[in-house]
Amino acid sequence: MRHEDDESELREAEASFASANPGYRDPEALHELREREYGRLDERGHTYLDYTGGGLYADSQLRRHLELLASDVFGNPHSHNPTSLASTAIVQSARSAVLAFFDADPAEYEVVFTQNASGALKLVGESYPFEPRGTYLLSYDNHNSVNGIREFARARGADVVYVPVYRPDLRLDADLVRRHLTTPSNGTARLFAYPAQSNFSGVMHPLEWVQLAHDHGWDVLLDCAAFVPTNRLDLSAVKPDFVPLSFYKMFGYPTGIGALLVRREKLDQLRRPWFAGGTITLASVQGAGWYRLAPGAAGFEDGTVDYLGLSAVTIGLEHLSSVGIDRIHDRVCVLAGWLLREMASRRHSNGAPMFRVFGPTGTDRRGATIAFYMLDPAGDIYDVYRIEKLAGEERISLRTGCFCNPGDGEIAHRITRDEMAECFEDSVPVTLAGCQRLIEDATGKVPNTIRISLGIATTFGDVWRFMRFATSLADRPAAYVAEPHDEPGPPALD
Ligand SMILES: Cc1ncc(COP(=O)(O)O)c(C=O)c1O
Repeated sequence: MRHEDDESELREAEASFASANPGYRDPEALHELREREYGRLDERGHTYLDYTGGGLYADSQLRRHLELLASDVFGNPHSHNPTSLASTAIVQSARSAVLAFFDADPAEYEVVFTQNASGALKLVGESYPFEPRGTYLLSYDNHNSVNGIREFARARGADVVYVPVYRPDLRLDADLVRRHLTTPSNGTARLFAYPAQSNFSGVMHPLEWVQLAHDHGWDVLLDCAAFVPTNRLDLSAVKPDFVPLSFYKMFGYPTGIGALLVRREKLDQLRRPWFAGGTITLASVQGAGWYRLAPGAAGFEDGTVDYLGLSAVTIGLEHLSSVGIDRIHDRVCVLAGWLLREMASRRHSNGAPMFRVFGPTGTDRRGATIAFYMLDPAGDIYDVYRIEKLAGEERISLRTGCFCNPGDGEIAHRITRDEMAECFEDSVPVTLAGCQRLIEDATGKVPNTIRISLGIATTFGDVWRFMRFATSLADRPAAYVAEPHDEPGPPALD
């Protein structure tokens, strides 16, 4: 339970923050939303700072979903009976809601429902017409589910080309990207993939690259999984060919549903490697190749879609719209700015900094996802798993690990190709923790990171509590904070 003294100190700090930061609009309305829809956070004393891991759902989303399910009878959609038609209506309205939310013209974009962003990415990887002399061009700071597409590209003989990010900001060199994108086409299929926002550093890359790439014959995969929870994606203005996302990251519930937004003309160029129930108009067991893929999204949705869960997607999008994506964006940006300034100014008594941030330390072209180490008075790194545990004891949820973003991690922590090679020498798979230990023992480098990320229900109190926790470690040596422990715990998977 929280102390009253703390609460009054917090209220004072928040009032002065709000008056200095117009982006922190209407704190009263935010508190009302927090209490009404996310009351369980404060009732249970949670400080949730892992929105890039997973968003939080509002109470009303659950209520509305339950009411809807209880109000009728829903059967498997692939038929024409009344309960089947009721489910078909749910699926259709979810498709329309997704298109409307992203301002996508239904004549131009199709929505393919998947299990998550990774499912959407796999659909692209396995179906994209990679071929010899073709290219898969991708930035270093992609999530592993985008990196994984390179294995489909390699298997089909296409070149895989990475564009590096650079310290300290972990941005791409815009001139280098331009040079890659403007190389003349040799007539083969080529795909450019980058995240609209890095899930590690929070870096936001220029969306103008989409048009530049199109002008030079590239198809573009814009990974929006970490972008859309706190940024407006306007598909009437920016028109990537493939946009993967996960709905739980946007509004917490339901889990297990994502989407691939895809330009219709590109959908026609994808070649699925198999067919399944639901993806065909017709198949026969009596002739090889006797099947016909269903047109549009249906050809890409294997089996029965989550027709009950999809009604919760429509509800979630309505909730996000009612709170206002621009409002959320402005709020998390000013809160991230406060955090970054506080992190830069916090020092031990000997003047040594307490934080090292990986990625931009200002608010320009970055989102509210912040990766960092905490440092002791001698400049040694506090064990990130201990920080996670100590924060957890104060019911602060932050994330540690590599966040499935090896490129940003390797550059942030200065891990060379030769050092990484050590982890791939054995045919026996090395675990993430094993690799981290190998590198740390061999080089003294700590290939591990803490991440906090803000979202729909974040208040000033959340970031303030985190800084109060961090400050409580001032002047502590790393060895004091480190408790003997053998295993660092399970690796972060998202
Ligand atoms: C940028 C980015 N892309 C893709 C993914 C994969 O999302 P999912 O695990 O929901 O498939 C994530 C997950 O964190 C992400 O942050």
